Amino acid sequence: MQLPVLSPSARGFRVLPLAERPPHQQRLVPALGRPPRVHLWHIGCQMNEADREELAARFAEIGCIPETPLDDSDIAVLITCTVRASAEQKVYGKFRELIPWKRARGGRAIAVTGCMAVEHGADLLARLPDLDYVFDVRDPDGFLAKLQALHAGALDGPMLLPASDRLSAYVPVMGGCNEMCSYCIVPFVRGREVSRPVTDVVGHVSRLVRSGVREVTLLGQNVNSYEDPVGGHRLPQLMEAVDSVEGLQRLRFLTSHPRNAVVDLFAAIRDLRTACEQLHLPVQSGDDAVLRRMRRLYTVAEYREKIAGARATVGRRMSLSTDIIVGFCGETEAEFESTEALMRELRFDTVHLAAYSPRPGTAASRRADDIPLPEKKRRLNHLLDVQRQIVADLNAGYVGTRVEVLVEGEANDGRLYGRTRENKVAWLPVGSARAGELCQATVTAAAPWQLQATPLSIAA
Ligand code: SAH
Ligand code: SF4
Ligand code: F3S
Repeated sequence: MQLPVLSPSARGFRVLPLAERPPHQQRLVPALGRPPRVHLWHIGCQMNEADREELAARFAEIGCIPETPLDDSDIAVLITCTVRASAEQKVYGKFRELIPWKRARGGRAIAVTGCMAVEHGADLLARLPDLDYVFDVRDPDGFLAKLQALHAGALDGPMLLPASDRLSAYVPVMGGCNEMCSYCIVPFVRGREVSRPVTDVVGHVSRLVRSGVREVTLLGQNVNSYEDPVGGHRLPQLMEAVDSVEGLQRLRFLTSHPRNAVVDLFAAIRDLRTACEQLHLPVQSGDDAVLRRMRRLYTVAEYREKIAGARATVGRRMSLSTDIIVGFCGETEAEFESTEALMRELRFDTVHLAAYSPRPGTAASRRADDIPLPEKKRRLNHLLDVQRQIVADLNAGYVGTRVEVLVEGEANDGRLYGRTRENKVAWLPVGSARAGELCQATVTAAAPWQLQATPLSIAA
């Protein structure tokens, strides 16, 4: 298969400038006479979720109305992902749905941003005749200025966003990734690592807590290489600063590279009041030769030591999650079996499994993608089964023990749901708690993806 080439911005790790149709191809935009309404859609990782929120705030700032239902909207913005070909296919599928929407009324426009925008750049305009704009989510200023110019008469000052009642939020603390795992396109579409100063992050978390948020997840593609550009503080110190925000109840972080997972980080999980006993540490493969081909820069033995170190340092029950790729270039049956053996040995609470998908511009895309798709699927399904048994077993061990549940909401049948500190979904009986409460509960039953629990007492 011939992979498309990366845009010059992606190849140069640069921010993509706004791309739009040449003037003779632009359709006349009838004046709306009111602020444009913007429909947002996203796919992909938590970073895109955080970007969506930030974009909504930026649209509101210039006087547009964000987060409107598609049928009421004038502009649709797709925040895309390109980590695997399947993510791109979903974006093209969504785009096809938008074509009749756009043609149904004059003045509608479609914009693509997120990781696919950087990957393909202005080429997307040639490929998708109904697409109007391509912009970089890391720098939406050009696109926002364009909207301001087009709708100048109708935009009068910032819009107030409705108050949100959510309890958990993502807080990006750094963008980009300097690792160059051979299979991964993320460094090309997200660029080099840039960290936000500690004071910025703490300010952001404080604002969220004032608006009712009780749990934050600090986000970065490689979050444990965080380094404050002002004071040089690393992730454990950042966590300490965030932990001191009054009213915050829980703190998590995503995603860590095993290479940078240090004892200080595990000690922060142990010592900080808000830090939850949860570690997401992608291993990708349980075989040294595959890890070398993936350019992961650690061995299975080193990974195992990190997990042992984390478990010993934290010293309490902790949940562990990971990412695994099956069917990477040249993965033999024996190499695949090593991954299964590692899963059985370390017993992860959650495993995000993916079949290898060659991505343009990556080092691995120059190797043969030689595991046939049906075989990749077989390996994937086999590991899904293995993991289902492991987590059923792990969760059964929770029965009779105490968990802390942050109650997030009420289902239609009146039962309450929330998450434990270990990030497991927990259900509580009708009337036993209220949304927003943090309660201690005893686990009464367990299934692979959820726990049932009964509250002991309601904590403040
Ligand atoms: N920075 C994070 C997340 C990167 S993308 C990390 O290092 O883990 C999330 C996951 O997608 C990766 O962990 C990897 O398991 C998977 N992934 C990335 N590129 C892929 C590819 N080309 N094919 C299949 N899975 C891929
Ligand atoms: Fe991709 Fe590797 Fe960076 Fe994760 S650490 S984003 S897998 S290059
Ligand atoms: Fe996808 Fe970009 Fe995230 S490629 S996984 S949305 S960083």
